[in-house]
Amino acid sequence: MEIREVRAYERDKWLGFRERLWPDCPREQLEREQDAILADAPRNAVLMAVAPGGELVGFAEVALRDWAEGCSTRPVGYLEAWYVDQAHRKQGIGRMLVQAAESWARARGCTEMGSDADPANEVSQRAHRALGYAVIGHQVLFTKKLA
Ligand SMILES: CC(C)(COP(=O)(O)OP(=O)(O)OC[C@H]1O[C@@H](n2cnc3c(N)ncnc32)[C@H](O)[C@@H]1OP(=O)(O)O)[C@@H](O)C(=O)NCCC(=O)NCCS
Repeated sequence: MEIREVRAYERDKWLGFRERLWPDCPREQLEREQDAILADAPRNAVLMAVAPGGELVGFAEVALRDWAEGCSTRPVGYLEAWYVDQAHRKQGIGRMLVQAAESWARARGCTEMGSDADPANEVSQRAHRALGYAVIGHQVLFTKKLA
């Protein structure tokens, strides 16, 4: 299994992963986010898990954030997206993706990582804990449209 950064011709495959991770998010928004990530390469990386035959089987997005809840240093690495295709789960690929994301952040001077998970996503929470991530709290999120 190889973990490497996404290549330009893999944009649609990357979008497919994003649609599976966030099925309720409109495709146009997912594509806008891809544009924003690609436009800010110094602060973002998109990592692909590539099987020996060349098949892409998972991905992670990692970013430099100015700060993250529970972290005491700045900037921090932040795990923005993390997904492995169903058929390839529980084989250590998710772990490899997170380790690569952490290495990317460490190489940019970070000493802490942040991440988040939906409270209903038990698997994600268990996987985070297995990889050394500690729960620091639970939040209620708000938004408001400004006229
Ligand atoms: C979360 C996810 C990326 C993990 O990928 P994965 O390749 O299965 O993870 P790994 O096999 O590397 O496992 C990493 C650790 O998580 C734990 N873990 C993974 N799946 C688990 C499960 N279903 N139940 C309990 N623990 C689990 C493993 O025990 C492992 O720890 P260990 O190595 O000490 O045993 C994958 O389940 C997934 O894509 N889920 C759907 C998308 C999602 O929820 N993403 C996270 C959004 S915040």
